[in-house]
Amino acid sequence: MRVGVLTGGGDCPGLNAVIRAVVRRGVRDHGFTFVGFRDGWRGPLEGVTMELGIEQCRGILPRGGTILGSSRTNPFAVDGGVERIKENLAAAGVDALVAIGGEDTLGVATTLAEAGVKVVGVPKTIDNDLSGTDFTFGFDTAVNIATDAIDRLHTTAESHHRVLVVEVMGRHAGWIALHAGLAGGASAVLIPEQPFDIEAVCAHVETRFESEYAPIVVVSEGAVPVEGGDMTLSSGEKDAFGHVRLGGIGDRLASEIEHRTGKEARAVVLGHVQRGGTPTAFDRWLATRFGLQAADAVADGDFGTMMALRGTRIVRVPLSEGTAELKLVSPAEYAEAEVFFG
Ligand code: F6P
Repeated sequence: MRVGVLTGGGDCPGLNAVIRAVVRRGVRDHGFTFVGFRDGWRGPLEGVTMELGIEQCRGILPRGGTILGSSRTNPFAVDGGVERIKENLAAAGVDALVAIGGEDTLGVATTLAEAGVKVVGVPKTIDNDLSGTDFTFGFDTAVNIATDAIDRLHTTAESHHRVLVVEVMGRHAGWIALHAGLAGGASAVLIPEQPFDIEAVCAHVETRFESEYAPIVVVSEGAVPVEGGDMTLSSGEKDAFGHVRLGGIGDRLASEIEHRTGKEARAVVLGHVQRGGTPTAFDRWLATRFGLQAADAVADGDFGTMMALRGTRIVRVPLSEGTAELKLVSPAEYAEAEVFFG
């Protein structure tokens, strides 16, 4: 069997570990040959491929990014996109596809599976917001990077008696902010699921100063104030899936805090640092196991499925179920973090 592999959406530490495991298991245990599709759905849409085998996968386990490249190409936004994909898969002699991606990439995979394309999905996103799986790989790396940043910011904030606002990724879900904020001892954590009251944030800032510590406020890029509106400095520019590019809430929040409390406040935007570089051991472990199981799902002809972590087991769930809804931080989980605010 000839199997195509693609990685779509925002890149994420662990993508190469999945590719390596799919190829190793596929070649060794199932006798597959592989072809890599470049840059997410752009590859099958435009017929852009690269050689992919054990040789191309040597040494990639600890490397961030993806050897296949990635993009946010949406084939459904292109006339005749599905037909073009089917033609290009046939031209490359591809019998089945392994699509590694998040909400958007796997959403496309779901619709293609319904249209008869033999596809197996592997969930990835640093945001950890896919409902079908307990964790996505990339998330642990992002949380560790953000926690390390918070630890470092504590000491400089304390030396200068400043407020430091740390803006982390998380468009719809505040998992990175919540986990890194808890792990790093933040004075407040602001997430998209729980609109924040700026007065309450300022009160936490004042309390932290009273105890001779400097406040660290962790904010997800998609957090919103209770009074409505938004605090991002977004240009309104959208990607092919209709998502507005976020960013800027950290700066806005810092100036608002400074204005209201009279304390100097600075913002640090972690941005793509959270997505780059080497994956943690946990992410390599999870990505590798997803890859092994995805190759097995192809061998079993179990198409239209997505690999998912449930406890410590990897299971297969229907793609449609895995992407049906976003996994958001519940009020109870947020309340745990609130104990430490102020
Ligand atoms: O989906 C993962 C993610 O990192 C989000 O947290 C963020 O909003 C988005 O990607 C940024 O995407 P890009 O790098 O394309 O601007």
